[in-house]
Amino acid sequence: MNSNQGIATRIVQLRQAIEQHDYNYYVLDDPTVPDSEYDRLFSELRELEQQHPELISSDSPTQRVSGQPSAAFKQVQHQVPMLSLGNAFAEEQVLEFAQRAEQSLGTQHDRNDLFAVSASVNYCCEPKLDGLAVSISYEQGVLVRAATRGDGQTGEDITANVRTIRNVPLKLQGQGWPAFLEVRGEVYMPKAGFAALNQRVLEAGQKPFANPRNAAAGSLRQLDSKITASRPLEFCCYGTSTEDLAESHSSTLQRLREWGISISPEMQVVENIQGCLAYYADIGQRRAQLPYDIDGVVFKIDALQQQRSLGFRAREPRWALAYKFAAQEEITELLDVEFQVGRTGAVTPVARLKPVHVGGVMVSNATLHNMDEVARLGVMIGDSVIVRRAGDVIPQITQVVLERRPHDARSIETPTQCPVCGSQVERTQLVRRSKNKHVVSEGAVWRCMGRLSCQAQLQQALLHFVSRRALDIDGLGEKIIEQLVARKLVASPADLYRLSYEQVIELDGFADLSANNLLSAIASSKQPRLARLIFALGIPDVGEETAKVLARALGSVQRLQQAFPQTLLWLPEIGTEVAYEIASFFADSHNLAVIAQLSELGVHASDEGQPDAEFQACTTFAGFIEQFQIAGVARTNAQRLAEHFKTTAGLFAADWLDLCGVERLSKNAAQALQDFLQQEGQRQRILELEQQLIVFGMHWTCQRAQGQAAPLAGQTWVLTGTLELLTRDQAKSRLEQLGAKVAGSVSAKTSCVVAGSSAGSKLTKAQELAVPVLDEATFLEKLMQLEKQ
Ligand code: IVH
Repeated sequence: MNSNQGIATRIVQLRQAIEQHDYNYYVLDDPTVPDSEYDRLFSELRELEQQHPELISSDSPTQRVSGQPSAAFKQVQHQVPMLSLGNAFAEEQVLEFAQRAEQSLGTQHDRNDLFAVSASVNYCCEPKLDGLAVSISYEQGVLVRAATRGDGQTGEDITANVRTIRNVPLKLQGQGWPAFLEVRGEVYMPKAGFAALNQRVLEAGQKPFANPRNAAAGSLRQLDSKITASRPLEFCCYGTSTEDLAESHSSTLQRLREWGISISPEMQVVENIQGCLAYYADIGQRRAQLPYDIDGVVFKIDALQQQRSLGFRAREPRWALAYKFAAQEEITELLDVEFQVGRTGAVTPVARLKPVHVGGVMVSNATLHNMDEVARLGVMIGDSVIVRRAGDVIPQITQVVLERRPHDARSIETPTQCPVCGSQVERTQLVRRSKNKHVVSEGAVWRCMGRLSCQAQLQQALLHFVSRRALDIDGLGEKIIEQLVARKLVASPADLYRLSYEQVIELDGFADLSANNLLSAIASSKQPRLARLIFALGIPDVGEETAKVLARALGSVQRLQQAFPQTLLWLPEIGTEVAYEIASFFADSHNLAVIAQLSELGVHASDEGQPDAEFQACTTFAGFIEQFQIAGVARTNAQRLAEHFKTTAGLFAADWLDLCGVERLSKNAAQALQDFLQQEGQRQRILELEQQLIVFGMHWTCQRAQGQAAPLAGQTWVLTGTLELLTRDQAKSRLEQLGAKVAGSVSAKTSCVVAGSSAGSKLTKAQELAVPVLDEATFLEKLMQLEKQ
């Protein structure tokens, strides 16, 4: 054997091995080698072919992507027309289909037997994939052509593109295939691949595909097959025009599978039409979990003999039926856009649509979210739009059909006045903090400034105030609130506590008992827990969880009302935006008046108290300096400054020389600090903030008079286990500020061990060595006591 022969043999071996791995991977879904091994075989083959171009054959796995883009798609005549399917949308239509077919088969079966009206029929059930129908032809086992369905008679030659689809074999596996084989099936894009593709498209600043089907179509109709090759397409075979491969449709597909053609793993043969209905129900339930989109299922009479005897009607087989799921997307017209006003005044555009059935439900409204979304969609009134309903989600407009835009389409304008109360509508602002600056940008939300004078806001605010998770006032439903507002009996949540028996009994549907019940429900809501009261106020962005944090940390509505945004920023989970929303809520005189009235009318939280220890614990002087967010003054430098100057007064008194005297503080950081402190009004703001924090129960651990001996000087402490009220860093820095050293291991010299929950070996060691041990609560108490000294 000469060496060229050796290479040719190796090339054949490599191709066979790669084809077998492709088959295991794509058809059997059962890979036998890791990707790395596959890649090695592939690179070896590619290298050998590069060195010996004369040995390249078009069915080599390396030849999926062809060199040159084509100028246009050639036309292809289908030898056997590609037909379509009859559709059913309801169970009766499925039963009718079966009855017709079974009766027809039964009668043909035995013309003399009057009772033999139905034949027994097996059905093959398959998912109806939502992609594009293609035909793929093999000659002598080699892929020679692929075509789109086109009009059923003539399609387009997309051979170069289909060759790039990894689960389409370029050569058939096994044996027994006919000299010519044409398989038919669906090319589709799995959901995950679609999401990844759209992500890439968006990152490249291009328009994303509306759905996997469009993406598959766009990918397949590329003149440059390199583009198709980069798209995550797959093929699933559902039939063949080649006859006599087996006795039934299902066994034909099984044979094709043995030759390397992918078929649906969901294919199932059932014994009667009831089995088909059960299949439809089952797959309908699993639809969302399937890795690809389907728009229904297809039932096919399985026996080919029966198929032949039924034949076709017009362009549809009498032996198959597509039972479609209710469409989840429909096209309709955008008649108008109205603006709804929510509880916090947010003015939201709502699309009024020409009613259309989507997913089995009549849809006439869809949310447009906000004006940014309107701009993103580029939608105008009068446009044809695609409406999508996914599961229980509120219908959404996903796309505008620009080709259908009428001449008189109108643009959607943000109202300048509230459609309900006529007050001014303003765009919200977003506040972010970056490098010690507040960066204000325009928000997506527009808000009616009418607050409670706006009926829409008042009604929503009242509903929220009385709702189960807020003050939980039973018996105040939407209808009653509407009446109270319409009759001007209630202009704020506080007014609920002023309602009289005479006023309530006058309302529709009230009698003596129900009026008394409502009044006593209102009266007994006067002592809610603080978190509920804060939630009930309806502060924008303050949900139940945030309300709990605020209640626990601050202990009273009054403190919340007074808190500067910077004070709120000390709290866990309160970000800049929320802090500013809260502050602006309490800066509003309307809101303050309502809160004052509530208090006068006896509505008080039952659990008001001191600020939480967690909050107190997180305030150190170093932390305070860190919060200024001065460039170059982060945690370590803040600690250096705190240790050096001890107090705000000390820091303010520092001149340039003093700053330079701070150990290991860079000149740049010193300069930045000096510039910061010299900004107009800065010192005043800092003093006010410090004052507030102190009034709220905080006290800087460094405020002890200088020169006083540190209470824990000379001691070594060890922290172990999980601390719940403090972070390790906080505990460590507070101990250090009291003069202690904090060590990592316990020895006989250890002064004290703080043991949090699930403390382990260090605690055991401390006990063995009789070192004092404190639990976290006792430790915190001791810290506070020492810090006060
Ligand atoms: S059988 C003569 N089986 O649905 C029967 N079609 O509405 C030919 N489709 O053009 C089609 N999944 O693109 C069949 N399991 C399936 C299918 C399926 C999707 C598509 C196919 C066809 C269209 C007919």
